[in-house]
Amino acid sequence: MPHAIIRPPWYHPERFVTPEKAYSGRRSFLRSLGHLGLGLAAAGTAWAEEPKTSKFPYLPAKRNPAFDPKLTLSDEKTATHYNNYYEFSTTKNRVYQLVDKFVVDPWSIRVGGLCAKPMTLDLDELAKAFIYEERVYRFRCVEAWSMVVPWTGFPLVDLIKKAEPRPEAKFLKFTTVSRPDQMPGMARLEDYPWPYTEGLRLDEAMNPLTLVATGLYGKPLPKQNGAPVRIVVPWKYGYKSIKSIVAIEFTATQPSTLWETLNPREYPFESNVDPMVPHPRWSQSSERVVDTGDHIPTLKYNGYAEQVASLYAKR
Ligand code: MTE
Repeated sequence: MPHAIIRPPWYHPERFVTPEKAYSGRRSFLRSLGHLGLGLAAAGTAWAEEPKTSKFPYLPAKRNPAFDPKLTLSDEKTATHYNNYYEFSTTKNRVYQLVDKFVVDPWSIRVGGLCAKPMTLDLDELAKAFIYEERVYRFRCVEAWSMVVPWTGFPLVDLIKKAEPRPEAKFLKFTTVSRPDQMPGMARLEDYPWPYTEGLRLDEAMNPLTLVATGLYGKPLPKQNGAPVRIVVPWKYGYKSIKSIVAIEFTATQPSTLWETLNPREYPFESNVDPMVPHPRWSQSSERVVDTGDHIPTLKYNGYAEQVASLYAKR
């Protein structure tokens, strides 16, 4: 991104206090209270249960062990206070302070373009139509920092199958909501080709790793992380993981995207994580773990080569 900064070695990342153990301990404690829920409610002490909203009846969802790299999770506060969401701010630790006015319910997503079954889904329909699970993914930003984050969502391929893409459909285009009145960063970047758009090849979108996420750390997605619905593509740089989507469109040709339009040399469409291909302005061979400040080697396809390398085998 044009404003991207690589922190100098003396930069001290924010450190936060809730380690993963405390997070998962709290969750299982709350869940055990949930099992007692009926009795407690009858006794008039239902306050002890974690609040559940009808829009997210599946939260917290069961973690799928097939998508768990068994790495230390980033601290929840880090993941929700250190954000790239340019519609609000280009300053990562300001975004969460600017999202109050952003309305994320009601919400609906239009699925259309080259498919036999176009549809519009609101949050209740999204909740009913798919099977949700928790997955822990590595998350690698093009700016050379990384986190490990537990998302809740469902594979995008499940939605694609419901829409029945036509044979001509070769790509998907995703669009973020555009609400300059609620998103104060948009006016400040007035030359940007808003709305934020992103895209994937259809076979990338159908890879089982590509997730439609509605939750984070067992709770509804915070606004700063892309509420109420975003895409997560863990083997690509973070800018492909588009937030707060309102449209998904099947297209025959490669869609234009916000970052590629702004700077195709620095932010190309494909954007697979690759330590051997430097960004024109910095190396991509290592990454700063935001929680600890440690620098670790970056892995090809962000560690997901086994699942995705075949997508890019020379044909
Ligand atoms: N989506 C929208 N609509 N606007 C953005 O600015 N930033 C991208 C991506 N999706 C962005 C976006 C970038 S650069 C990154 S690294 C991730 O969101 C950050 O996601 P996070 O804040 O949940 O860590």
